[in-house]
Amino acid sequence: MSLKKTVLSAVQPTNLLHIGNYLGAIKNWIPYQDEYDCLFFAVDLHSITVKQDPAELHENTYRSIATYIACGIDPKKATLFVQSQVPQHLELAWVLTCQSSIGELSRMTQYKDKSQKHGDRIPTGLFVYPVLMAADILLYRTHVVPVGDDQKQHLELTRDLAERMNNAYAEQKGGPDLFVVPEPMIQKSGGARIMSLQDPTFKMSKSDPTPGGCVFLTDSDKEIEKKFKRAVTDSGTEVKAEGQSEGIQSLISIQSAFLNESYDAVLSRYIGKQYGYLKVDTANIAIEKIRPIREKTEEILKDRSYLDSILKAGALAARGRAEKMMNEVYKRVGFVRE
Ligand code: TYM
Repeated sequence: MSLKKTVLSAVQPTNLLHIGNYLGAIKNWIPYQDEYDCLFFAVDLHSITVKQDPAELHENTYRSIATYIACGIDPKKATLFVQSQVPQHLELAWVLTCQSSIGELSRMTQYKDKSQKHGDRIPTGLFVYPVLMAADILLYRTHVVPVGDDQKQHLELTRDLAERMNNAYAEQKGGPDLFVVPEPMIQKSGGARIMSLQDPTFKMSKSDPTPGGCVFLTDSDKEIEKKFKRAVTDSGTEVKAEGQSEGIQSLISIQSAFLNESYDAVLSRYIGKQYGYLKVDTANIAIEKIRPIREKTEEILKDRSYLDSILKAGALAARGRAEKMMNEVYKRVGFVRE
């Protein structure tokens, strides 16, 4: 077993990835690669909790992995894989489902938000989604999970389930715990929650209904510029020292996350200046950061056999570890094994 601590995270390969996914998650995975045992994957099983076009899902799964690499994840250092290629995620999800309650799952805010769009035909998958996410994490004895702020509640549930299972299936008093209780790692400044450029009271999301609200990692320089120039601010004209509107705060946060600077350091450069400067500078910074990611992603995507070989090796490594964990889980639960 590796002596390094384990870091794990994932993105749903639905639609295209955006700067919220990058600044809130992927960018923060990169510094872990040298010192930690890292697993990063595309959660296709999570994607089908809502309707997907199969051809698009297939393509976007490759694209997600190519984007991780283009953002700086090194497949030689981290294990990269596709969730559905490791069936143990589903096996553990079932065991955890049996430990979870309808009450606690009903309290998940993301479930409440997403289920509203489905009238009286709420997909069951949407309801049990957080249990599958807990399985993703607990399967690999994960210590740290770098995610955006919106995943905090899911991480709390994961921790509760880990503790519940550890108590229910303690091998013997003082024996090793079945699961590691993971810690979320959520950025303190800037990137934890990137807001829509068209409605800064809403989180930037792949399914943003307002065109221009979401900046994708595939957007051209021109598109990025246009989206930032049209970003919703307020009726004022100049940046104030305090009491900013949500739109201005959001632009400052995006800049601070891209530049790894504190919010206050970025704000101090704009106090007394017209909003236009903040918009143009933020657009230029985003353009410079996104361009290499976009170009590298396209380059990697052209070489399917390279991507397939990475995914094959990743799935093999992940399956080996997952199988060991499931043997231990089943043994503790009392199942008769071959
Ligand atoms: P997903 O696919 O919605 O988002 C992937 C990651 O991006 C972050 N994120 C954001 N961060 C800041 N601002 C935003 N506007 C923004 N939008 C998204 C998310 O917080 C997340 O870190 N349930 C997860 C996927 C998942 C997972 C896991 C994550 C499944 N299993 C195990 C970690 C570990 C989700 O739907 O993320």
